[in-house]
Amino acid sequence: MTERLQKFLARAGVASRRKAEEYIAQGRVKVDGQPVEKMGQTIDPERQRVTFDGRSVTPPNQKLTVLLNKPAGYVTTMADPQGRPIVTSLLNEPGLRLFPVGRLDLDTEGALLLTNDGELAHNILHPSRQINRTYLATVKGHPDRDALQQLRRGIVLEGHRTWPARIRELRRNQETTTLEVIIHEGRKRQVRKMFAAISHPVLHLKRVAYGGLRLGSLASGQYRRLGPEDLKMLFRPAAK
Ligand code: URA
Repeated sequence: MTERLQKFLARAGVASRRKAEEYIAQGRVKVDGQPVEKMGQTIDPERQRVTFDGRSVTPPNQKLTVLLNKPAGYVTTMADPQGRPIVTSLLNEPGLRLFPVGRLDLDTEGALLLTNDGELAHNILHPSRQINRTYLATVKGHPDRDALQQLRRGIVLEGHRTWPARIRELRRNQETTTLEVIIHEGRKRQVRKMFAAISHPVLHLKRVAYGGLRLGSLASGQYRRLGPEDLKMLFRPAAK
């Protein structure tokens, strides 16, 4: 839904509509980093980022979900007693308390969703939704067909059988193999445990998609705001 920029600024508590028009005329308001040129411009608050004097403007109660390319070395908790860097420190969304949807290990990189929409987070994480997570895993050695077949069918980890996985070998070099692994469970260190179970430990792990929503060219440490179309992709099956 689009709305006039001055109305949006007023709703966000920046100033009255009239005062907001003055700020726009003074070039103090930017939309997606660009100064606003014409009065009466409309914006889509869910997709576009508005700043006033360089600071993000967000109306209260705005629901926001972002896709972050998490670098290795960041923890996916809201605070860390050991003082390690936390993923939320990579966001610049003042006034919004976004929390990670699920987790990625300290040493895993890639697609991580953060949101302030509790219901959405619940839907994403609920096992009945079976949202696929796609990983690129580089493992030690060259797992043979039988070993991969076991993982595809499911193996018992800590007393519970894993759901069937889709696994495709992408490339191998002398000492390692890189595979695409698609699972819909989010058990702790699941991909690492699956490959450890067949004696091919994971050396590098990156999540590249959540459902049909891919990380694409998002650089490490960068994030983007998601719009309704992105959220639809999230609930679509992973591309084959
Ligand atoms: N599987 C893992 O082993 N680690 C992650 O971070 C995610 C899935």
